[in-house]
Amino acid sequence: MTDTFLPPDRLPAWQALRTHRERLAAARVADLFDADPGRFDTLSLSACGLLADFSRQRIDRSALDALIELAHQARLPEGVDALFRGERLNHTEGRAALHMALRGGCPPPAADAAQLQDTATRMRTLARELRAGALKGASGRPIRRVVNLGIGGSDLGPRMVAEALAGPAAKHPVTVHFAANIDPQELDEVLSGADPAETLFIVASKSFTTAETLANAEAARAWLRAALGADADIGAHFAAVTNAVAAAVDFGIAEQRLLPMPDWVGGRYSVWSAIGLPLLIALGEDGFDALLAGARAMDEHFRSAPLAANLPVLMGLLGLWNTDFLDQETLAVLPYAHGLRSFPAWLQQLEMESNGKRTLRDGSSTAVMTSPVVWGGAGTVGQHAFHQLFYQGTRAIPVDFIVVAGGEDARRQALANNALAQAAALTHGRSLDEAVAALRERGADDAEIRRLAPHLAIPGNQASTTVLLPRLDAYSLGALMALYEHKVFVQGWIWGINSFDQYGVELGKEMARRLSDATSSARRDGATIGLQRAIAALRRG
Ligand code: F6P
Repeated sequence: MTDTFLPPDRLPAWQALRTHRERLAAARVADLFDADPGRFDTLSLSACGLLADFSRQRIDRSALDALIELAHQARLPEGVDALFRGERLNHTEGRAALHMALRGGCPPPAADAAQLQDTATRMRTLARELRAGALKGASGRPIRRVVNLGIGGSDLGPRMVAEALAGPAAKHPVTVHFAANIDPQELDEVLSGADPAETLFIVASKSFTTAETLANAEAARAWLRAALGADADIGAHFAAVTNAVAAAVDFGIAEQRLLPMPDWVGGRYSVWSAIGLPLLIALGEDGFDALLAGARAMDEHFRSAPLAANLPVLMGLLGLWNTDFLDQETLAVLPYAHGLRSFPAWLQQLEMESNGKRTLRDGSSTAVMTSPVVWGGAGTVGQHAFHQLFYQGTRAIPVDFIVVAGGEDARRQALANNALAQAAALTHGRSLDEAVAALRERGADDAEIRRLAPHLAIPGNQASTTVLLPRLDAYSLGALMALYEHKVFVQGWIWGINSFDQYGVELGKEMARRLSDATSSARRDGATIGLQRAIAALRRG
């Protein structure tokens, strides 16, 4: 890849997009539908079993063409090639970002191929033994409960997918649980009613230095020792997934229970690696393989489809349009599926840890906005909580609706219909005239109508994308996750930031370490000193 980098706002297409923004800033999507009844057909796209409808975005064909031209001028196709070829796009850490290699979306580095194969074989054997009840704890009883101790990327992906696909615990020979927080309440809750003789902990930490995970691993060890005795073979109750093999051995993990992960897998992209072990256990090999297959299909699509017919590319470009040209600061992600209730949390890390950055490839500062604030929650629950702000609040907030088509169940159909109704209502709103007519129909008198109508009026014109899954299964979820992964790449590439490091997070970690270290002479500011005194006083009672 040749490295002549220009920040996006210095590309000619950026200037053209500013003109489109002038034209479309006040446009109403409802009017765009009136002007072009075929809008859905031209602005929706299917790939890998998913359908994405972009027709509710405040965009038209010529602005979309300008966005695609921006992607060409930013040499996105070269970036995609470099990504899949394993170039060190994570230039600040000198690493490639090759998570696609874990699902067969591209070859792994030749030097790592044998170890990857060995890890895959060992994790599958471990999962098979567990599911068959053949893996025994220190006292010879079969392991029936697996607890994943990890945080961030070592937790959010497997937790989210397990919630979506594992189904009722009662059907499983081995139940899978997750504890991330250093707050003891979480692990206590997970272990409540658990039998130590039948419990296995997976210590999942790429770095094996993360304070929360190590503290929980220590607590787990103490819990096992207290129940099984100091002389018991506690190692029979642990496995670990890490890039820091020596640190895991030091902790006491037996080498045959250690599953290495390569350094070219970022934490937030690691569910496809041995970090996915809880999923192999919960879903079995067929389920895990289907998840990988869905993601692999999206890799192939992303790599080969022309920009104008490329799902992650279009999603990335429209997000960039909303952020940089329509000044929209957040993205609400609303999965209409209880199983996907943790999808927004997974996506928050993926988007905000990847693209919440301001320094460009050449070391200069960006002049444009980067990652939006990503938030959200499951529909229809959110409708009865925060949707009011979409309708009558003062902010423009784009929404991604994630909708599952499948199933004859009437409540599932109601769920999908609710999502479609919300998307339409957000586009069209309710005009003052419509509010007046509604009040008149209810029998209100003129004074009442004058008083209430402004409160019933809803401006509408909130942009949304709807992503439709045929059903909530492993293949579709894998494709959906890879869609968002690649969307994040598209945006990071065009913004010119490194989507694969996370130096910001490191500062917070370092500060927490210093505060926990009583001997540290690090400077504390006035608020920290004041709050530490208050905490100490409250603890003394
Ligand atoms: O603190 C941020 C972070 O480094 C994430 O990037 C990562 O997913 C998480 O912590 C957990 O890190 P590890 O897997 O090394 O414990």
